[in-house]
Amino acid sequence: MPPVPPSTRLRRLRRTPALRALVAETQLVVEDLILPCFVREDLGEPAPILSLPGVVQHSRASLVRQARELVDLGVPAMVLFGIPTQRDASGSGAYDPDGIVQVALRDLRDAIGDDLVLIADLCLDEYTDHGHCGLLDEHGEVMNDATLELYARTAQVQAAAGADIVAPSGMMDGQVAAIREGLDSAGFHQTAILAYAAKYASSFYGPFREAVDVTIAGGGNRRGYQQDYANAREALREVALDIAEGADMVMVKPALAYLDIIERVRQRVDLPLSAYQVSGEYAMICAAAERGWIDREAAMLETLLAIKRAGADQILTYFAVEVAQILHTGTIWR
Ligand code: PBG
Repeated sequence: MPPVPPSTRLRRLRRTPALRALVAETQLVVEDLILPCFVREDLGEPAPILSLPGVVQHSRASLVRQARELVDLGVPAMVLFGIPTQRDASGSGAYDPDGIVQVALRDLRDAIGDDLVLIADLCLDEYTDHGHCGLLDEHGEVMNDATLELYARTAQVQAAAGADIVAPSGMMDGQVAAIREGLDSAGFHQTAILAYAAKYASSFYGPFREAVDVTIAGGGNRRGYQQDYANAREALREVALDIAEGADMVMVKPALAYLDIIERVRQRVDLPLSAYQVSGEYAMICAAAERGWIDREAAMLETLLAIKRAGADQILTYFAVEVAQILHTGTIWR
């Protein structure tokens, strides 16, 4: 028998879509998906977000409709961001029991019971008039420890309003411990914490800031508290600290430019690991696809599977509804 060229040996199992599906190492399933949603106070009709085509600022009523669609599709979770009418220096809308997220959580719980996991993003930046994630001192620097108290209060009102999980995204040191203590002292032992553990100061958050109408005062940035993208080992320290402080799940954010971080965290951590395909990642695919330069659906599926292949268990993605609809049409055969 003539020798078989090695290349043919590998290619045998790539010959047809069915063969490729049979030997695929990674699958994307509906249960992996978490949809980020925006809800805006005093909004009559959902308002489109120009930088995120297909994504809207929800009214309270349209948010409930969105939640029902997720339940019908089998998407297990949403993460909620609020846009208040009034902003102030201390971000009081975040921890007001009648703030927009708390009101929306109660609406959702009443409408859909436990059929959807409700995750509340926990941060002050959507509620402060300066756009930073915490309280500022007289020099305009974010004060870490004073901010922690407000995070703990926010966690309590979010839990009281029905959040299953609170997700601190402000990157203050000690935030997970402060929030766990705040929850436990108010009797919310069952409320879990998804820590934005490794969150980088990223240009890919651009469209999100339009979605929540946030501009950082004086052209500022978050590099003083979010991570420097030059650092990978530092992410492991952030994750280890958050776990020691009581995180139930950890997140890496953004996703696509940080697949190495996802992989490294996965190797060391047994907790559920989430990755956030952020607004800029979504917007890039939309924009290139609109110009006909890339195939939207193919790029969506490729990036999401890459994030899973790197080691993520759950993916926060603005594509959640679209990808769930595709997954329901049957097996994805590449
Ligand atoms: C902060 C927060 C941000 C995002 C989620 N939570 C913005 C930021 O850190 O500036 C970005 C999410 C996205 O870009 O999709 N509360």
